[in-house]
Amino acid sequence: MEAAAATTPASTETRKLTMRAAVRERFGNPRDVVRIRDLEKPVPGDDELLVRVHAASINVADWYAVVGRPWIGRVAMGVRGPKELRIGTDYAGTVEAVGKAVTGFAPGDEVFGGRTGAYAEYVVADAGRAVAHKPANVSFDEAAAVPIAAITALQAIRDQGRMGPGQRVLVNGASGGVGTYAVQLAKALGAGHVTAVCSTRNVETARSLGADRVVDYTQEDFTRLDDRFDLMVDVAGSRPWRHVKRVLASRATVVLVGAPKKGPLLGPLEHVIGMRLASIGSGRRLVFFVARLNKEDLETLGDLLEPGRIRSVLDERYELDRLVDALDQMGDGHCRGKIVVTM
Ligand SMILES: NC(=O)c1ccc[n+]([C@@H]2O[C@H](COP(=O)([O-])OP(=O)(O)OC[C@H]3O[C@@H](n4cnc5c(N)ncnc54)[C@H](OP(=O)(O)O)[C@@H]3O)[C@@H](O)[C@H]2O)c1
Repeated sequence: MEAAAATTPASTETRKLTMRAAVRERFGNPRDVVRIRDLEKPVPGDDELLVRVHAASINVADWYAVVGRPWIGRVAMGVRGPKELRIGTDYAGTVEAVGKAVTGFAPGDEVFGGRTGAYAEYVVADAGRAVAHKPANVSFDEAAAVPIAAITALQAIRDQGRMGPGQRVLVNGASGGVGTYAVQLAKALGAGHVTAVCSTRNVETARSLGADRVVDYTQEDFTRLDDRFDLMVDVAGSRPWRHVKRVLASRATVVLVGAPKKGPLLGPLEHVIGMRLASIGSGRRLVFFVARLNKEDLETLGDLLEPGRIRSVLDERYELDRLVDALDQMGDGHCRGKIVVTM
């Protein structure tokens, strides 16, 4: 559809209108600092879309952005206080208006993507960046769960892990946001065998996602398995190198995705640094990366979601007014799949 025809006189009419959005003016416990405010409804620029958000999801990064930890992260987040008041990244919604230079999107399109400020009734998205059409058979909740977690899993397996066909893959931390997609993507991209590590209550979920073997970490130590993995996607970061290396094939790759929150200064980076140093000279490749949100990967994920080759696992669903409860649950670190917030 021709975008110019649908450009935004609507936005000028609505410029004075407000929207409900979550903000925090200082870092701290979500309950103390997160507020739902009326903000001016955004107006899309020439290359942008105005999206009416139906659902957003919570990522650990959103929790870090609220509490302002680890302190090293404040270089980007703001040293004295948050540089950006709005919070949230992942969303799914309906395009309400498009800028005059936008092609490929039109009002009424259902989309999903990532943009700061997603815990709000509206976001403005750069049409050329991390936004894509939502498959019609995938709900807004399911689509909102996808961006950061599934892109992280995809880039961990395909780009950083360079997984080859038939490889034996281990996903440690298989039941949260990143892990539930990682298990499915490893299978969908041709792994020969996938072992998922999670706690007792999530064993059935991990199995239902296609894991060939599920290790309940409360009952069994995965680093004592009689198995050797070509690729380990370490989402939980729960074990030191000297244990992990016992189950690695001689030319294995370990992709470090996450780690416990740990100390206030470096947070999860403490574990990353420890693993990096300990792995030197081991002959194994160990990589840590920060996922990059982008349109192409969202489209790839949409293509896998549409025929049901991957799906979103949804945990609790909260309304925007209960965002602090959602953030508290995220902070506990035991989600099953993704927490969704509806507007
Ligand atoms: N590098 C990047 O770009 C990137 C991007 C996204 C996320 N991350 C990081 O990745 C990590 C996970 O993110 P997420 O969104 O998946 O978090 P999440 O949804 O909170 O999931 C965490 C999962 O870890 C599991 N877990 C906790 N302790 C464990 C243990 N000892 N052994 C195995 N599993 C354990 C939990 O399962 P149980 O309840 O069964 O224990 C939970 O399902 C975080 O550290 C996050 O910061 C990094």
